Amino acid sequence: MYTVSKLKSYTAAALDKAVEKLLAALKEEVGAIKTEEEWKAFRDRWMARKNGVLTQINDLWLKAAPKDAKREVGQRVNEIKAVVEQAVGHAEDIQLQLQSTQPSAKESAERLDITLPGIRRPLGAEHPVIRTMHEIVSVFRNLGYAVQEGPVIETDYYNFEALNFPPNHPARDTQDTLFIAGQESKPQRERLLLRTHTSPVQIRTMEKMKPPIRIVIPGTVHRNDPPDASHSPMFHQIEGLAVDTNITFCDLKGTLDHAMKALFGSSVKTSFRPSFFPFTEPSAEMLVSCFICGGSGKRGSEPCRPCKQTGWIEILGCGMVDPNVYGFVDYDPKKVSGFAFGMGADRIAILKYGVDDIQLFFNGDVRFLEQFG
Ligand code: PHE
Repeated sequence: MYTVSKLKSYTAAALDKAVEKLLAALKEEVGAIKTEEEWKAFRDRWMARKNGVLTQINDLWLKAAPKDAKREVGQRVNEIKAVVEQAVGHAEDIQLQLQSTQPSAKESAERLDITLPGIRRPLGAEHPVIRTMHEIVSVFRNLGYAVQEGPVIETDYYNFEALNFPPNHPARDTQDTLFIAGQESKPQRERLLLRTHTSPVQIRTMEKMKPPIRIVIPGTVHRNDPPDASHSPMFHQIEGLAVDTNITFCDLKGTLDHAMKALFGSSVKTSFRPSFFPFTEPSAEMLVSCFICGGSGKRGSEPCRPCKQTGWIEILGCGMVDPNVYGFVDYDPKKVSGFAFGMGADRIAILKYGVDDIQLFFNGDVRFLEQFG
């Protein structure tokens, strides 16, 4: 095995010879490495700070050199250092390649088959909730409705006051509102919150446009509901508003009955029962006959869960626009009338696709979403 000995002469020829001997030994040792242990031993023998070959040539060749030879010897030592470092690194690469089953970069480059197809990027697909919203919107577009949108961060005025929820009115409690912090110094109507429904866009649209109005308003809304299988603090609504002369409750019923048949199939029936919203009068809740059990409340011998065995599913809130609302947007309640409705798109998607947990829509798990691709 190679050992470093002192240089007897510092002539160029003597240096050449010593370097040659060292490099020959290095080459031989690299060639003999077969295992990782051998590589480690090799590395330490040449590079260990304490008594490695590099340290030895530094001490025995360079430090011992007479002054006028120092420059020349220093250069040689540096060159040797670079070669040794390279050799140790190279030997390590070979070890790593031997360990892994991967072909080396060179091998795989030789095997590259340019006729193979490229990497397939999976195509995205419409999210089931968005798809449901598009379906609902298109039913109304076919009836001549336009689409309007509005901000998710709303003022108290648009979310409540102009919709006939007076300040401190208990009807506000039904909305489980998420308020933006630090708004106390503003007048109440300017304070910001996350809109709890898409109804504020009714007001924003009526401020901009004169009747006749026929619009649908898709969008996200927020409520302070802890997430569970049927609740999410963020969900989706689609609102509708029609204002014109001589619009009656019959128009409301006919329009919604048509829309439900277009969405769930022509055999569904609709039913209305009285309800309350501050911005509609009269107000109603609309139900559709259960399109899962056909209204029987049973699936074979099992009870039908989606309709809780009643044969009816509650789908939306609606009513005739309360005349007080027209006062906020400068419409004349003696001349115009209209109806409004609002439905939860996530709930409809759950029913349509037979999903048992609303959280699945928002967890972003591709295994769930892929099924709708
Ligand atoms: N905005 C109401 C809600 O979210 C629903 C609704 C809309 C009711 C339009 C009547 C008219 O509860």
